[in-house]
Amino acid sequence: MSGSSRSRSGDTRPPSLGASTQAEDVSGATQRALIERRRKSMGANLLFYRDPVHLVRGEGVWLFDDENCRYLDCYNNVPSVGHCNARVVEALKRQAGVLNTHTRYLHESVVEYAERLASSLPAELEMCVFTCTGTEANELALRLARAATGRRGVVVMEYSYHGNSNLIAELSTAGLPPERRPDHVVAVEPPNLYRGPYRAGDPLAGESYGRLVAAACRELDERGPGVSAFLCDAIFDSQGGLEAPVDYFEHAYRYARTAGALCIADEVQAGFARTGTMWGFERYGVTPDIVTFGKPAGNGHPVAGLVTSRKIMERFAESQFYFNTFGGNPVAAEVGCAVLDEITERELIRHVVDVGGYLRSRLEELATKYEIVGNVQGLGLYQGVELVSDRQSLEPAAHQARRIPDAMKKEGVLIGLSGRYGNVLKIRPPLVFDRANADQLLDVLDRVLAAA
Ligand SMILES: Cc1ncc(COP(=O)(O)O)c(C=O)c1O
Repeated sequence: MSGSSRSRSGDTRPPSLGASTQAEDVSGATQRALIERRRKSMGANLLFYRDPVHLVRGEGVWLFDDENCRYLDCYNNVPSVGHCNARVVEALKRQAGVLNTHTRYLHESVVEYAERLASSLPAELEMCVFTCTGTEANELALRLARAATGRRGVVVMEYSYHGNSNLIAELSTAGLPPERRPDHVVAVEPPNLYRGPYRAGDPLAGESYGRLVAAACRELDERGPGVSAFLCDAIFDSQGGLEAPVDYFEHAYRYARTAGALCIADEVQAGFARTGTMWGFERYGVTPDIVTFGKPAGNGHPVAGLVTSRKIMERFAESQFYFNTFGGNPVAAEVGCAVLDEITERELIRHVVDVGGYLRSRLEELATKYEIVGNVQGLGLYQGVELVSDRQSLEPAAHQARRIPDAMKKEGVLIGLSGRYGNVLKIRPPLVFDRANADQLLDVLDRVLAAA
């Protein structure tokens, strides 16, 4: 962690006193050497920040670097019940010391985890398959949808991300230029009430965005593949975290189903209390045919999968077989159960509603103070702050936005960026984030925006 001017709040060492200069030089050299080793051994790097952070420890909402500098984590959704959560670590250690196998043997915890997930969902979603990643879960969901419908096409959002396999990368329009999109993929405009074709105040916005799904289904029929699935992430993570019109999913699902498609809710981002309900789709009053999950399910350990109806699962099983060596093993199941226990016992859903509401109202105050803040969007503890250089034309202030995470990092606060134009500040902390943490984030953001 070299080059930072902020105080080392996790350390006993005072900030940048003369005596520490030499130590900082040594640390800077160590950091540069590690970056170089990483470049040589891992290639083109995807490191965050101009001056990357070298983390060595985490605890709750805090991350500590190699100099024991403390950062407030306002970005990481995976350690949702807190970095190195004691209950999760204990469950993992305990089960790893007893037994870990794949899922072709009977094991109580594995069945219990499947039952508990199903019981958190609408009754018809009763069967669970475990995987290691969200990508695998989405890929399997697509296979189920194709088996159930006999068609191949998929309707997704523009600028979506659903994973990294070949099949799923084709559905992840954020990373795929339109000219390389295969025939069986049609993307629709996400329901963005700030800058999309139908905006806040339009009472028919939900219906109008829904109709785009109907048109996409027709297009897939005309092209030939037909439509097997409508796949959507209810918090619209890569689009900057959107709050869709409350009737959007009702219309979108109705149109998709009329065209014969299954509705897949990708809950890899929105699930596990992030948006203030256990599952992101709950807010919209719909029941998906398949729910996929990942990231926060294991608080950093590979726990992912899907839940669907018996009918859809049986249809798939008639012609195909799925086995995942590591998915849903006893250690994963114990970890998954520990995460669910934490959500329940710490009342994290209620907590997210409370802290998320507080964070949102204070972010909206910043929007009245700074012209550059065009909009605040999102749900619960997923908030996006969209920066624009002109509130009339909504010209994205991408250049200014890019500097803000670096400036905040220097003050000990980690956030990210999102959105089609890279101009949305992404605030998505572990769920144990509290009002005092929100105040710290907002004070730093206020100072950084003032300086910008
Ligand atoms: C909405 C969504 N779906 C799926 C995935 C893929 O999950 P994984 O990286 O675990 O394969 C991601 C990952 O960022 C995601 O954001």
